[in-house]
Amino acid sequence: MCCVLSTLMLCWEQVEHHVVSHMKSYSYRYLINSYDFINESFSVSRAEATSFGNFPYLLDHKDMCRGKDVLLLLFVKTSPENFLRRQAIRSTWGNQTYIKKELGVNVKVVFVMGIHPDGHKRDAIQKQLQAEDQIHRDLVQQAFMDTFHNLTMKLLLQFRWAHANCAHAQFLMSADDDIFVHLPNLVRSLQELSAQGVVDLWVGHVHRGAPPIRRKDSKYYMPVQMYQWSSYPDYTAGAGYVVSGDVATKIYQATLSLNASLHIDDVFMGICAITAGVSPQEHVYFSGEGKAPYHPCIYEKMITSHGHENDVGYLWKVATAPEVNGISSGFFGKLYCTAVKIGLLCRPYFTNTYSCKAAFL
Ligand SMILES: *[C@@H]1O[C@H](CO)[C@@H](O)[C@H](O)[C@H]1NC(C)=O
Ligand SMILES: *[C@@H]1O[C@H](CO)[C@@H](O)[C@H](O)[C@H]1NC(C)=O
Ligand SMILES: *[C@@H]1O[C@H](CO)[C@@H](O)[C@H](O)[C@H]1NC(C)=O
Ligand SMILES: *[C@@H]1O[C@H](CO)[C@@H](O)[C@H](O)[C@H]1NC(C)=O
Repeated sequence: MCCVLSTLMLCWEQVEHHVVSHMKSYSYRYLINSYDFINESFSVSRAEATSFGNFPYLLDHKDMCRGKDVLLLLFVKTSPENFLRRQAIRSTWGNQTYIKKELGVNVKVVFVMGIHPDGHKRDAIQKQLQAEDQIHRDLVQQAFMDTFHNLTMKLLLQFRWAHANCAHAQFLMSADDDIFVHLPNLVRSLQELSAQGVVDLWVGHVHRGAPPIRRKDSKYYMPVQMYQWSSYPDYTAGAGYVVSGDVATKIYQATLSLNASLHIDDVFMGICAITAGVSPQEHVYFSGEGKAPYHPCIYEKMITSHGHENDVGYLWKVATAPEVNGISSGFFGKLYCTAVKIGLLCRPYFTNTYSCKAAFL
């Protein structure tokens, strides 16, 4: 009896975390459905707001966009020691020369980072970074410690840098350095959006009504003093999202009146967006945490996929191979790809990638 009861108690704790907090947050999200009051409790004076993220730049390239038509300013959030990841990105999806040659547009890839948190290693790594930057001239570094809890500082860096040095870019993307971005697919869809004169755009993998995590042992632990409500405003997964230039300006302006001590950067972006009056749109081919299945029918549509520290080279090669283009065209192509994608994406209990909806798009 005791044994059963204690098992139940243990399970209940799990249920509590998973079910109750989500029920609370969803009802909050869908009944209240407005988070106007949040920005009030985060708003601070302009002087206080600008004191957040006000660190000197150690590496910078202010003239990177000057005098050029920039379709996309692409920030890759990286850390000082991730040399190999940056190198892999430069030679695959972040290759600006390739994009210019194949698609005829300017994409500017900027790696953003803080300083190495370990004081003993910092000097040596800093020297390596300077050497790397001499060759590639694409690092922007500010003097804050590059840690998980300082990610919001990196967010401020991106929007402030963009406003100061590349305000004419038509779109801005923020991406982690361990994701894969199918840049040709992304650029083509941005070209279409640009031709339509789209504004107010913020796309990615959207989290709606996500509950703050109150377990102290979690990486995403959120103290009640910092965020008291039972649900976050809608936001896109920080791994990869795109905003139009007008939204980038509005977010920048929002950062000038908000308390940026909330350390989860994508949630903070949601708060900025409330203040700016912008809301995120779901795009089924932006992955949240999951890896996309490996298949040409997926490559034809994919935008981002997560968790590719080791196989960006392979994925870039297969995903941009000529035979991928138009694989789903025609009646039989469409039928074939829909069937394949249903098989890959619509399995029960297999949710860590694109949603089943993507099979039909
Ligand atoms: C909060 O956001 C709402 C909705 O955009 C806006 O009307 C209001 O002025 C904002 N309040 C503050 C204090 O920024
Ligand atoms: C980038 O693409 C260009 C054009 O396709 C190619 O010549 C170059 O080798 C690529 N750069 C890297 C670092 O792979
Ligand atoms: C963030 O960076 C600042 C400046 O380097 C540092 O003082 C602070 O301890 C860092 N915060 C965390 C949580 O790492
Ligand atoms: C910002 O918020 C934190 C945590 O809620 C609080 O401790 C701090 O005093 C606030 N800063 C300002 C300038 O209001």
